[in-house]
Amino acid sequence: MSAVRGEFSSRFGFIMAAAGSAVGLGNIWGFPTQTASNGGAAFLVAYLVLAFFLAYPALMAELMIGRHGQANAVVSLTKVSNKPWQKHFAFIVGFGGILCAGFILSFYAIVAGWMLSATAQPIATLAGADAASLWLSEQSLTRNIIFTLVFIVLTIAIISRGVENGIEKWSKRLMPALLGILFLLIAYVMTQEGAMEGLKAYLLPDFSSIFDTQLIVSALGQAFFSLSLGTSVMIIYGSYISKKENLVSLGAYVTLIDVFIAFVAGLLIIPAMYVAQAQGVEIFSASGKLLSEDTLVFQVLPALFDGMGSVGLFVGFAFFALMSIAALTSSISMLEAPVSYTVERFAMKRIQATWLIGVLIAVVSITIVCNLGTLFGLVITLTTKVAQPLLGLMCCIFVGWIWYRNSLLQAIQEGNPEVHNTLFWKVWPWYTKFVCPIVIGAVFVHSILS
Ligand code: TRP
Repeated sequence: MSAVRGEFSSRFGFIMAAAGSAVGLGNIWGFPTQTASNGGAAFLVAYLVLAFFLAYPALMAELMIGRHGQANAVVSLTKVSNKPWQKHFAFIVGFGGILCAGFILSFYAIVAGWMLSATAQPIATLAGADAASLWLSEQSLTRNIIFTLVFIVLTIAIISRGVENGIEKWSKRLMPALLGILFLLIAYVMTQEGAMEGLKAYLLPDFSSIFDTQLIVSALGQAFFSLSLGTSVMIIYGSYISKKENLVSLGAYVTLIDVFIAFVAGLLIIPAMYVAQAQGVEIFSASGKLLSEDTLVFQVLPALFDGMGSVGLFVGFAFFALMSIAALTSSISMLEAPVSYTVERFAMKRIQATWLIGVLIAVVSITIVCNLGTLFGLVITLTTKVAQPLLGLMCCIFVGWIWYRNSLLQAIQEGNPEVHNTLFWKVWPWYTKFVCPIVIGAVFVHSILS
């Protein structure tokens, strides 16, 4: 390995960074809302099964490609290609993933900016600055532009420091802080009226709805978004893992942490919804459907916190600080995708590359903020519903159909010499060759049709 390439200094550091990428708004907001609108515990069961049986194998494909290539996504994919057409294909998939990560960051930064302003709002209230507090709580163009930019600058500041001092150091600090705040909030919510009803809805499955196609499609999409698949991010993180590490178990830890945090977030949000309902906030319509899915977090939760009296200011602050932290450890992974490519392809200094790309992404973000009604939903659909599943599928095709089996085995044996005797090696290559592409393809077609 060349001296300039960064590497995670420890197992713990890698796990925190990759889990930091995986754990984000997708887990703490997306997962509980989807669970609530898709039949509660039945969705939870489907999500658990799909995360372990489909998303984990796909994550392993990306980590393997990256660690074998020891380079950005384009170069890593090219290294497993043999024929000229495969090398073109590698460029399309790698570069497509990098672009996709950039566009995902451009909308993610907007939502994260809302989280930042919601974090600042209770502070303004406490300080008695009522006008500022009102400004922070209402959607406005100036507020959105300012907080989106603040969030992008925070992301740039961490990424410009590189792998060990930037990504790893901050993920190690922020991830455990996040878990701590989550548990404190759960303990609080559990003491409130209505919480037990929410807990039942979350944990007691109604098995009649478990084979509903829409439920399965949503659960798989959620699992892929949540593990940051299909955008070359996990290829790059894989490239920073030492060849002495056992990839099979590292990937399993990351999946377990991601699923665990989604599960724990559900323990907070779903009971919190029922607590809010017990306090008179309308959450479900008469037919039992969730009202205002997208905006629930910014309307209903502050209402819930208000109901707590002055403690609510602290709870609201802690909750949105947690959302902002989760968003930041995810956004740094998204920015790393284009930055590592630019640094390696154009031999640019990391700090220059980070600012250059950060500014480009900021321009796209601001364009979206100024056209929220038209562009926001469009960019989300194109990146997460179209590009992500297709690119994830292609990574599985690389591992299953293009990468020579012997070379693949050698790559996975590094750090895990006995792997050829394990169940993993008996099942996984076959899985990524047939099951993953077919199921992802089916989900893709289904989401396009509906
Ligand atoms: N997985 C993160 C979440 O759950 C989002 C995320 C981070 C992501 N990096 C990504 C999604 C790359 C897609 C691609 O919020």
